[in-house]
Amino acid sequence: MSTSSQSYPMSGGEDLHSYIHNSSYQKAAIDSLQEKTRLYILEKIDLLSLKTGLSTFTIADFGCSVGPNTFHAFLVCFNDQPNNDFNTLFRTQPPSSEREYFSVGVPGSFYGRVLPRNSIHVGHTSYTIHWLSKVPEHVCEKKSPAWNKKYIQCNNLIEEAAKAYKIQFTKDMSTFLEARAAEIVPGGLMILQGQCLPDGVLMSETWEGIVIDTIGDCLMDMEKSELISEEKLESFSVPIYFPQFSELKGEIEQNGSFAIELMQTISHPFQDMHLTNDFTTSTFRAIFSSVIEKHFGEDVVDELFDQLTKKLNKYPIDFQKCKKQMVYCIVLKRNT
Ligand SMILES: C[S@@+](CC[C@H](N)C(=O)[O-])C[C@H]1O[C@@H](n2cnc3c(N)ncnc32)[C@H](O)[C@@H]1O
Repeated sequence: MSTSSQSYPMSGGEDLHSYIHNSSYQKAAIDSLQEKTRLYILEKIDLLSLKTGLSTFTIADFGCSVGPNTFHAFLVCFNDQPNNDFNTLFRTQPPSSEREYFSVGVPGSFYGRVLPRNSIHVGHTSYTIHWLSKVPEHVCEKKSPAWNKKYIQCNNLIEEAAKAYKIQFTKDMSTFLEARAAEIVPGGLMILQGQCLPDGVLMSETWEGIVIDTIGDCLMDMEKSELISEEKLESFSVPIYFPQFSELKGEIEQNGSFAIELMQTISHPFQDMHLTNDFTTSTFRAIFSSVIEKHFGEDVVDELFDQLTKKLNKYPIDFQKCKKQMVYCIVLKRNT
């Protein structure tokens, strides 16, 4: 059944800092892929229904968060970690009289089975699989060659740390696909959406990577001002890893439970926009505050993100010069 994994939900509730009000960046990417994906699924579902004679389709959204970016359709199983704010998710759904689907909540890590065998016709996940099941063990150990020093992410600047992240990603992808292969009916679909790096591009060259490194710089400043301890800073790294495109493809092929039906990439719709520092700070705060809070304590969050805005104002990101991540949409078919 479900394996344990570290859990860092997005900011819940509906206040100023909540994920629900600070996820338009992710939503824009998903929306721009939505129509094509929807038509593709409908066509495939027709074929599946002819074959099986089914009248009810079960869809699972893995890592649904609090919305509003989750998929719209049929019987929908909304999965996320148990400490996700499911109340906000269900409270902000349209009333059942206006909804064309029934919904259920499924708490548990998607790095393990969360649903019965052969019960899902279409699985969906967006902006999730870059979240690893845990921080790779040695990256936070000062004596290890894989120690990430004062960096807080896999920015690819320390080779051994990058290797440790990659190993963890490989393990997690394999576990994710194994679990989905058990839950999805033969011939059923699994749709993955999110961001990855183009081959050869390093996280530290992208604007997202620069923002995370800047959060790390702010933490270093806070350590100098004795707002956090050196030991806390040195033992902190975020459990996220953006694979390069061919790495992601390779993991799916290696697993072998699914055939790749479609693997397309697009540029992010906001790619050529100059995102304001307030927008950037709010987006990253909604994503990272729980991971920060868990490690450093809740008092640190306001100060850290205030410092982030100030630093971004002082050293603005040159979006034109940054290398771009790609938005991907992958449709997989469960082998029969
Ligand atoms: C950036 S949010 C994406 C939410 C939504 N799918 C979207 O596209 O806006 C990532 C979500 O994945 C969830 N998540 C991360 N690791 C998970 C795991 N192991 N099991 C279940 N959910 C997980 C987080 O709790 C969070 O809600």
